[in-house]
Amino acid sequence: MNETVVSGDQNAALDMNQRARDILITNDLGGYTVPNKNVYPFQWNWDSAFVALGFAEFDIDRAWKEIETLFDGQWKDGFVPQIIFWQESDSYFPGPDVWNTGKKPQTSGITQPPVAASMVRQIWQKDKSDAARGNLERIFPKIMAWHRWFDKYRDPLRKGLVVATHPWETGRDNAPEWDEPAASVDISGIEPYERRDTLHLDKKMRPHKEDYDRFVAMVEYGRTQNWDHNAIATEGPFRVVDVGMTMMLIRANKDMLALANEFGFEKEAVEIRSWIDRAQNGINFLWDEKIGAFCSKDLISGQSSGIISSATFLCYYAGVGSEAQRASTVNHLERIAATTEFLMPSLSPDNPRFDAMRYWRGPVWAVVNYMVSKGCREVGLADLSERIKLDTAMLMRQSGFFEAFNPETGEGTGGEDFSWTAAMWLHWAGK
Ligand code: DGY
Repeated sequence: MNETVVSGDQNAALDMNQRARDILITNDLGGYTVPNKNVYPFQWNWDSAFVALGFAEFDIDRAWKEIETLFDGQWKDGFVPQIIFWQESDSYFPGPDVWNTGKKPQTSGITQPPVAASMVRQIWQKDKSDAARGNLERIFPKIMAWHRWFDKYRDPLRKGLVVATHPWETGRDNAPEWDEPAASVDISGIEPYERRDTLHLDKKMRPHKEDYDRFVAMVEYGRTQNWDHNAIATEGPFRVVDVGMTMMLIRANKDMLALANEFGFEKEAVEIRSWIDRAQNGINFLWDEKIGAFCSKDLISGQSSGIISSATFLCYYAGVGSEAQRASTVNHLERIAATTEFLMPSLSPDNPRFDAMRYWRGPVWAVVNYMVSKGCREVGLADLSERIKLDTAMLMRQSGFFEAFNPETGEGTGGEDFSWTAAMWLHWAGK
């Protein structure tokens, strides 16, 4: 083996590690980490959960702090918001005045994918000190309360699935799965607004104006309901069962169950098991026989999206589906793997709406890759799991720690020096 090459690789890896750590340290605003200083100047829910995994690689106390700060924004009913506005900034729209939730700290009125439980379990597994035990015992009831909130407000079908009431809740803001459901949202009365995202980023990387008009209309609707989550989830203009949030919640509940068993939380374990059982049966509601995959479904029209996105492949991470369903989804995954330079595109490239640079309509996202790769490994798809990991690492080496990446060329898209991308390098892709 060539000594020079080995040490060159090691140096490159060390340099990447250092750069990734520096991004987290620079984006740390004191107890919480902004996803990116210009584009997203506040605390975001699922970003923080993934970021905590990155911190756990070099500062375990700071990892716990990230999670604690996120739950400092929790509402009394268990809801954990998508954004917590810890400080003022006019570089983002919509700010706290537009949401007007009346909470302290000020927050948005929608939630985001419930991944915190899964990341907390990872942090606990890394360091089981007495201090960590105390942290876990404090955070566990708060996560329970959030998952109870999902059960109470977001599962009207009682199938263990998650209804999203705004595309921003899914974290996959402009995924084509929301095009048809959002098209019937009334935008005629929206107040004039000025987007800030396109001041920082090329507009070819961002959602279209028509998407934004609908996003704003849905925020204004929630505000007129005084953020009454019952009304919003039963009468609101956008109600879609999101395959992504559903799979992530099932996985999070499985991680919660493992923690409950380890810590002897018996009553909670019974409750969590009932959620998991309900979802294991209910998940077939999302199975689209024509497509041969789990797809998001519009509750208002009753239509399946029929769309294969990267979220489709979170079924392995959730550990759901029959053998036949698995074989069918693996066919899709292998088809995409055979024709795509870098996995996992956020939308199947053969979809006419595929757009390699535009946010959730094509680009690769490291956090989704992490979950899909982990799930693949757990169900015995070791080669696919490894390919996803190597592709993710290659993208970061080639282009840096961008928000997302073009699956055809590897070019970075969205914000630079992105916290959750750096965190995924430290925790997973760079190892
Ligand atoms: C945005 O504003 O682009 C965010 O993704 C919303 O969460």
